[in-house]
Amino acid sequence: MSLPIFLLWLFSIPLPFAQSLPAPRGFLINCGASNTTTSGNLTYVPDDGFTAAGNKTTIKNPDVMPILRDLRFFPDNSARKYCYMIPVSKGGKYLIRTSYFYGGFDGGTVPPVFDQIVDGTKWSTVDTREDYAKGLTSYYELVVAAMGKILSVCLARTPQTVSDPFISVLEVEYLDDSAYNSTDFKKYALGTVARTTFGNNEDDMIGYPDDQYNRYWHPFMDNNPTVGSKSIIEPFSFWNVPPVKAFSTALTTSRGKTLKIQWPQGSLPKSLYYISLYFQDSRTKSPYSWRVFDVSINGNKFYSKLNVTTDGVSVFAAEWPLSGQTEIEMTPGDGVPVGPLINAGEVFQLLPMGGRTLTRDVMAMEDLAETFDNPPSDWSGDPCLPRDHSWTGVTCSDGNLARVVSLNLTGIGLSGTLPSTLGNLTALSTLWLGGNKLSGNIPDMGTMRELKSLHLENNQFEGPIPKSLGELPEIQEIFLQNNKFTGGIPENMRRNGLTIK
Ligand SMILES: *[C@@H]1O[C@H](CO)[C@@H](O)[C@H](O)[C@H]1NC(C)=O
Ligand SMILES: *[C@@H]1O[C@H](CO)[C@@H](O)[C@H](O)[C@H]1NC(C)=O
Ligand SMILES: *[C@@H]1O[C@H](CO)[C@@H](O)[C@H](O)[C@H]1NC(C)=O
Ligand SMILES: *[C@@H]1O[C@H](CO)[C@@H](O)[C@H](O)[C@H]1NC(C)=O
Ligand SMILES: *[C@@H]1O[C@H](CO)[C@@H](O)[C@H](O)[C@H]1NC(C)=O
Ligand SMILES: *[C@@H]1O[C@H](CO)[C@@H](O)[C@H](O)[C@H]1NC(C)=O
Ligand SMILES: *[C@@H]1O[C@H](CO)[C@@H](O)[C@H](O)[C@H]1NC(C)=O
Repeated sequence: MSLPIFLLWLFSIPLPFAQSLPAPRGFLINCGASNTTTSGNLTYVPDDGFTAAGNKTTIKNPDVMPILRDLRFFPDNSARKYCYMIPVSKGGKYLIRTSYFYGGFDGGTVPPVFDQIVDGTKWSTVDTREDYAKGLTSYYELVVAAMGKILSVCLARTPQTVSDPFISVLEVEYLDDSAYNSTDFKKYALGTVARTTFGNNEDDMIGYPDDQYNRYWHPFMDNNPTVGSKSIIEPFSFWNVPPVKAFSTALTTSRGKTLKIQWPQGSLPKSLYYISLYFQDSRTKSPYSWRVFDVSINGNKFYSKLNVTTDGVSVFAAEWPLSGQTEIEMTPGDGVPVGPLINAGEVFQLLPMGGRTLTRDVMAMEDLAETFDNPPSDWSGDPCLPRDHSWTGVTCSDGNLARVVSLNLTGIGLSGTLPSTLGNLTALSTLWLGGNKLSGNIPDMGTMRELKSLHLENNQFEGPIPKSLGELPEIQEIFLQNNKFTGGIPENMRRNGLTIK
């Protein structure tokens, strides 16, 4: 989806009582910025501390709004991903929004195309070329549940990526438990396709503070008549808490006629979608201000005899198949004296979650990243997943709960030590760390029941060689030469079939 770049981020005039809303809970991050930036009523912080990758730069065009002037780009083309790490509460539900405005920051004229990743799941391709050519900024949105205490949002090159990936703004906002709660977030994330308020003028985009979660509601008009609401709803009684303002206008049609809208616009890929539609009778409150109609989507019955009153009503489908063009039809019941109407709607594509790495392995790998002085630059985010974007030197098992099975960091100039938690990588079968500048003692690895091949040669390790190495059931070779070990090779390692160097 896209937004203009020269106007304010939000250009709606807040309703008076909406101003008491607290700012969205979460993180509003202005990527590549050096100072905090305000946009509309919200304050965005610099991204230092959320990522260790990439470089900051500023777009030359002085006319774009401040939030888009700074960006972070990622020139290191050996890294398999570039991650932002966001502290979250485990099990919490979050709205993630990434915004991209290229601005020719690298002297080019066409933005690069690359991927974005959330934890272990490929989220989508970022292709901003069409929006950029039209002078627009592009954004992507995903509702996802946090599986751990850190949520990682990463960018990655694809074989088609010709210049450096970049990001302008990253927002991660906490949603209440009830929002979109018909979705099983252990299985799916929801990718925003459309969030629309019907019958509004083009300038009337709705966001914070009208929407407490700072969701963007884009205006939509077609040739159908529009109507303004004469009574105010209580949005807090609605699932997903749409803003009051989204009910202020509607598309409608005359008495007895079927209201048809082509929405969402454009052709959708064949997939399952979450669809939520919001309605309110536009007349002044009275016992007679209600209307009944059927709702169908592409000719399939969505809801029968929906009774829409001035209190408003929402209906949703958690897993609805769509592909290609979409048409929503509202057919009035017999003898209803007013035509059907629609105020707002949301459509999300269901994105199957791509699995993750066993938490114990993740923790051990994070400890390792910390005790190395100079780990590879892509050692953040999920160590194993998505499969093409595991950490450099890391190989993992297949399956929905990946395990680290091989580590090969031979000769890459590593310094630092090994953590005491290394032995938690119990699925590891090869560990090759030869030819670096690693030092300190060898931790206990007696728990690594699968370890076959251990290479520690040509480093500066010291202390005794742990006796437990000789007792590992699968071990076939141990390379220890050219270190500063004391005490010699333990007796139990001198046996047939085990290669010691
Ligand atoms: C939002 O900004 C407007 C104008 O800058 C200001 O009048 C209003 O009080 C602000 N509202 C909040 C909730 O901060
Ligand atoms: C950003 O912050 C630095 C140091 O805090 C300050 O010197 C500089 O003027 C600020 N830049 C802008 C554009 O506000
Ligand atoms: C990015 O930053 C690194 C480290 O500060 C620097 O060595 C490198 O030259 C920068 N790359 C670009 C393309 O600016
Ligand atoms: C979802 O939230 C609504 C509103 O709070 C609640 O009534 C409903 O029971 C919840 N449904 C599930 C499946 O948790
Ligand atoms: C629709 O709801 C209103 C208000 O609750 C009620 O008075 C009316 O009878 C309902 N209409 C139908 C057809 O159920
Ligand atoms: C580890 O990497 C080195 C250097 O790239 C390579 O020579 C070696 O064969 C690799 N070892 C394994 C077990 O893949
Ligand atoms: C990891 O290893 C440490 C030290 O060996 C141990 O105390 C801890 O319980 C292990 N953690 C897990 C999650 O198994």
